[in-house]
Amino acid sequence: MDVLIQIFLDSAIFVLPLWFGNASPTILGGGSPIDGGRYWPDGKRILGDGKTIRGFWMGVLSGGVIGALIAFIGYTILPITLVLAETPIIMRLEYLEYLNSGIIPILLSQLNLATTLDNLTLLGFVLGSLMAFGGLIGDIIGSFIKRRRGIERGHTFIFLDQLGFLVVGMIFVFPLIPWPIQWFLIQVPFTFILHILANLIGYFTGIQDVPL
Ligand code: CTP
Ligand code: MG
Repeated sequence: MDVLIQIFLDSAIFVLPLWFGNASPTILGGGSPIDGGRYWPDGKRILGDGKTIRGFWMGVLSGGVIGALIAFIGYTILPITLVLAETPIIMRLEYLEYLNSGIIPILLSQLNLATTLDNLTLLGFVLGSLMAFGGLIGDIIGSFIKRRRGIERGHTFIFLDQLGFLVVGMIFVFPLIPWPIQWFLIQVPFTFILHILANLIGYFTGIQDVPL
């Protein structure tokens, strides 16, 4: 059981920049659409008004801020001992170990940067932004597919809406952070449910007009 909790926590912290990067445009987005209002030869919008330039970059920025926070908090407050179900488990965050091993020291030395808290936080920002960037590209691909299939902006395409950003975002950063497959297997169902719940909450609190 502890192993499952561990995998869940690691994977959830890992995808946090993706969740924020995907959700923040709902509040911070708006303005000019990425497709410039243009139409595809099938007579439908290329992407539609739901994909805006500001939303895209605000999403990338949010992912970066969350990535930086994870790195900063991870190296200052954590690791802590959590008491869960009367069993103390040490939060051994693999995400932070990735910041410490593999490509990260190579990146730091290539950039002639020392392994300081500032530099790790900066790298957390870069990785979080990159992940959100990949996720938002996935979101755009999703809208492109929806428009080609005649699904109006804001209407639901089950699985694509909930998982497109996750799958593309995770694959996008895989060369930098080669995540274990268990993270993917646990986050696909979890993010799916979380996305639906978050949308329902957004609908009932008036943040968005459609329930899904
Ligand atoms: N949003 C944005 N820019 C983006 C992505 C999202 O401004 N790049 C904002 C839009 O206001 C959008 C809202 O976040 O309506 C919710 O995002 P999403 O559900 O992805 O867009 P939809 O409106 O459902 O459009 P689509 O059907 O194309 O997915
Ligand atoms: Mg939508």
